[in-house]
Amino acid sequence: MKLIVEPATRTLTGTVTIPGDKSIGHRSLLFSLLSATPVRVVGLGDGADNGRSAKAITALGASIAKDGDGLVITGTGLDGLVPPTSRIDCGNSGTTIRLLCGLLAGQRFATTLFGDESLSKRPMRRVIEPLARMGATITGQGSGLDVTPPLVVGPADGPLKPLDYTLPMASAQVKTAILLAGLFADGDTSVTEPGPSRDHSERMLAYLGAPLAVEGRRTTIATRGWNRRLACDGFTVPADPSSAAFLVAAAILVGGEVRLPGVCINPTRTGFLDAITAMGGHVAIVDPRAAGPETVADLVISGAPQRLHGITIGGDLAVRSIDELPILAVLAARAHGTTVVRDAEELRVKESDRVETTCAMLRAFGVTCEAREDGFVVEGRPEGPLSAARVHADGDHRIAMAAAVAGLVADGQTVIDDADNVATSYPGFAAALAALGAVVGATA
Ligand code: S3P
Repeated sequence: MKLIVEPATRTLTGTVTIPGDKSIGHRSLLFSLLSATPVRVVGLGDGADNGRSAKAITALGASIAKDGDGLVITGTGLDGLVPPTSRIDCGNSGTTIRLLCGLLAGQRFATTLFGDESLSKRPMRRVIEPLARMGATITGQGSGLDVTPPLVVGPADGPLKPLDYTLPMASAQVKTAILLAGLFADGDTSVTEPGPSRDHSERMLAYLGAPLAVEGRRTTIATRGWNRRLACDGFTVPADPSSAAFLVAAAILVGGEVRLPGVCINPTRTGFLDAITAMGGHVAIVDPRAAGPETVADLVISGAPQRLHGITIGGDLAVRSIDELPILAVLAARAHGTTVVRDAEELRVKESDRVETTCAMLRAFGVTCEAREDGFVVEGRPEGPLSAARVHADGDHRIAMAAAVAGLVADGQTVIDDADNVATSYPGFAAALAALGAVVGATA
């Protein structure tokens, strides 16, 4: 699929409902499988990645029924998972495969997990290594630098062993895999992380009644003496800040009046808003309110196109904006001065090598971008439009959507090839931009 974007000739106006957060959606599905009582989930996004987690839990014994504006998931309870009758297809979804590794590590049966071409290249040693220390058997492909899918997880011949583990990188997927495996261990399982990765699992597992304690960057699951019962009445999935970021950036670059209601403002997810503020931009965070274990607010962008300046994004801010760095790079391309992104080597192992694909995308628009081992350097080009581009998204949803936003401030039509995977996180992206007044379409 191609996305075709025309330069914006008028400002963007309107209110857009952003689909449910992808990370929280995966967790609401996978954790509901473990619940002893049915869980009502409202606001789940329509992206294909969450669809993979939904299929996976039905393969493991859950049932999912439509219920008004939500779903009711009837799980198996912690100790009632059933062996799947065939391999589980995780598609493009790193979160599905890595969280399943932890969830399945302690099961008495074996499960094969596989995915698409991109997922088949992604590194899995980061989950396999700690889970193997807990006594799990997980085998995958390749003997070189890393282990890649397909993976065979289990069978375990008894409870897993407790583990006290310090993560080599800030990763919510690896942290969650270990915490899930910890539910099946006979003792305390602790994970310490070097940076503030998203903490939805900690919030949601505690909400379900898991024996979980957080102390700074260290999280512990303590199963001794626990009744092994997880239950809650339901989860509300807030709007996805990582999807909202594309429309926020579009409104900043083009100007207008845009409101995005109910966006998750968990501090582990708002690095992009902090980066925009540091660049001199302004996004109003209106009416913050609780939504179960999370906090949401409306994001409002108003006024003329905003004047931005370059900044350095590194350390904790890079962790807190890791999925938004491609769209922040587009803002940097329109800023005065230079933007440096560092401490972001994790970009190299996302759905594509996002250091290279972000730089290639910006260069297609005539912007100077230098790749570094742990990030990139963008020379802003704030005067005049960008050069209209033909971009290859390399099957990466976030590169395709970032390029579409850049196309709004280019000097002619922009064509983005290989954009099908926008459907993994935000199938309605082009329609949402169009609803705000942009001229954007999709063709086969
Ligand atoms: C995610 C964690 C992050 C993020 C990904 C979703 C999650 O990955 O980039 O899009 O839902 O746990 P890592 O765990 O690899 O940092």
